[in-house]
Amino acid sequence: SKVAVVAIDGPSGVGKGTLSQFLTCKSGFHLLDSGAIYRALAFGAIHNQIDLENHAALVELALRLPVSFMEGSVIYEGKDVTSKIRTEETAAVASKVAAIPEVRTALLDRQKAFSQAPGLIADGRDMGTIVFPDASLKLFLTASAEVRALRRVKQLKKQGIDANIEKITQDIRERDERDANRKTAPLVAAEDAITIDTSNMNIEQVCQSALTLMRERG
Ligand code: C5P
Repeated sequence: SKVAVVAIDGPSGVGKGTLSQFLTCKSGFHLLDSGAIYRALAFGAIHNQIDLENHAALVELALRLPVSFMEGSVIYEGKDVTSKIRTEETAAVASKVAAIPEVRTALLDRQKAFSQAPGLIADGRDMGTIVFPDASLKLFLTASAEVRALRRVKQLKKQGIDANIEKITQDIRERDERDANRKTAPLVAAEDAITIDTSNMNIEQVCQSALTLMRERG
């Protein structure tokens, strides 16, 4: 039988991660953090000093990507890399490898395999458009780059990391630009997605409106 999939797409810093975790807790569904897969690939590429022009080597790594997810932790070759893959450096490389069509294709089956009973909350950029086009509910979250940068700075401060707001805003703009303009799976809302502009909402409001939509769609 068909497994219920909730696709949650949008740019970085829009609250997808928090919303996905919230919906996962509420529903008991599985969680796919597809960004973490691209970040793990980026981490592996950096670690193995793979030239980003060497698409064959990146595809080879993507197909056997030694990453697993355990209770919110990301494990790469047996090591906990949860915080290592969250750096701006890894994010920048992730968005570069994610622009390579063969790499995206190589990661498709890996992502589809997360769709298992009782259901899946899928967090990413192309969940509703490419990976799960038949998703039962598709949400597309947006917010201005400034609002997202501010949220990111707050998040980093909580982790004791000093951050420069101008630099982060710039990084977010560049990454948005690359994600939106790439030829394969650009960041766009699916035709049947519901867009939630979170610029003037707090995360509790975002979570509650998404939960209401999810319960309506049952
Ligand atoms: O969501 P997160 O910031 O962890 O994703 C890191 C990068 O991975 C994004 O900037 C994007 O380039 C890429 N990505 C993607 N498709 C996805 C998830 C992430 O291209 N479904």
